[in-house]
Amino acid sequence: MAAERPVQAVILAGGQGTRLRPLTHDRAKPVVPFLNRPFLAHQLALLRQHGIADVILACSYRVDDVRRALGDAGHLGVSLRYVVETEPLGTGGGVRNAADLTAGTIFVLNGDILTDADLGAMVRFHEARASRATIFLTSVGDPRQYGLVETDADGRVRRFREKPSGDDPVTSNTVNAGAYLLDAALLERIPAGRVVSIEREFFPALIADGIPCYGWHATAYWRDIGNPAAYREAQLDLLEGRARMLLPPPGVPRDGCWLGDGVTTIADARLVPPTVLGERVRVAAGARVGPGAVVGRESRIGPGAIVEGAILWERVDVGDGALLQGCILGADVRVGARARVGPDVVLESGAVIPERTTCGRAS
Ligand code: GDD
Ligand code: MG
Repeated sequence: MAAERPVQAVILAGGQGTRLRPLTHDRAKPVVPFLNRPFLAHQLALLRQHGIADVILACSYRVDDVRRALGDAGHLGVSLRYVVETEPLGTGGGVRNAADLTAGTIFVLNGDILTDADLGAMVRFHEARASRATIFLTSVGDPRQYGLVETDADGRVRRFREKPSGDDPVTSNTVNAGAYLLDAALLERIPAGRVVSIEREFFPALIADGIPCYGWHATAYWRDIGNPAAYREAQLDLLEGRARMLLPPPGVPRDGCWLGDGVTTIADARLVPPTVLGERVRVAAGARVGPGAVVGRESRIGPGAIVEGAILWERVDVGDGALLQGCILGADVRVGARARVGPDVVLESGAVIPERTTCGRAS
C-alpha cells in the first residue's frame, strides 16, 4: 500500500533571533521583511507548492508580531495555526508542543531557512528507504556552526553532531539543513514540558535506538538567513536568479524591477535592475536606486541620493545626495543629507544618521 503523502508542516519559529540583532529588536526573525514580505511567506510558498497547506507555527517569542504579519495565511494559500510555548522549549520541545495537532508523516522546518529544494523528491526518498526520520542535508563552507551529519553510502544517518567544539575533528562539510520529514508518532519520544533540543537529543537517540533515519542530500539553493550578511545576500540571490523565486515581491514587474502600488519616480531618477520598490515609495530627481536594492513601503529617496545593494525597511528617509551601499536599514531610519552608509552596516529601526557623516566603509 502506498504511504499517504505528507500534508502538514510544523515550523519552528520561537528563537530570539539573537544573531540578527539589532533588526530583531523591532521584529521577530520569522517575519523580518524579505523582498518586502514577511520572511516566512517565502517558506509557506514552498510548502504550498508541494501540497503542504496545513501548517503549524511553533512560537514563543514576539508571537504578536508574527500573527500581525501572517494571520491565518489564507492569502498565501495555506492555513496557519499557532502553538505558543509559555517558556521557550527548544527545537525539540517546540515540535513536541505541537504534536497533538499532527498525524502521519510531517515536515518540520527551521523558520529561518530559504531553499527552493524539491520537497516532493525528499518525500519519495523517504518512502523508498522506508525511513521514519529524513534530514535534508546540504554542503557548506564552514560546517562548525551547523549540525554535522554523517551517513553511510545508502544515506542512513550514523552520527549527528550539533556544532562540534573546536577540538572535535570535522571530516565533512555535510550539514543539517534544518528541514525534516518525520513520522509524527516519533514525537512521543520527546519528553513534554521541558526544554529539548531536536539536534542534540532527539536525533542522536533515534540513531542509538536503530530507528531508520536517513539523510537526503540536495544540491538545491539553501541558506540560513539568521545573520545580517546572510539575510541581505539571500535577497540578492533571489533577485539575481541564484535561487528560484517562488513568491515575487508585491507590485508589478517592469524591466527587471518590481514596483509597488503608488510608486513615484521624479524626472531623471533612475531605477537599475534588479530592484524592488514597495508601495508609495518616492524616488526624487537625480537619485539612483539599484542594482540590488530593496526599498520598503513609503520610503523616500531624496534628490541625487544613491542606494545600491541595500535593504531598507518601511518609511526610511534618505536625505539629498546620501550614499547607501550594501547596508541594512530598519524601519523609520533617517539618513541625513550627503551622509554615507557602507557595506555591513546594520541600523536599528528608528536610527538617525546626521548629515555628512560616514558609517562603515562607504566608498
Ligand atoms: N518554537 C521554538 N522554541 N522554536 C525555536 C526555539 C524554541 O525554544 N529555539 C529556536 N527555535 C527556532 C528558531 O526560531 C529557528 O527557526 C530554528 O528553531 C533553529 O534555531 P536557530 O537558532 O536558528 O539554530 P541554528 O541556525 O543555530 O542551527 C540550526 O539550524 C542549522 C541550519 O540552519 C540547527 O538545526 C542546525 O543543526 C542546522 O544545521
Ligand atoms: Mg538558524
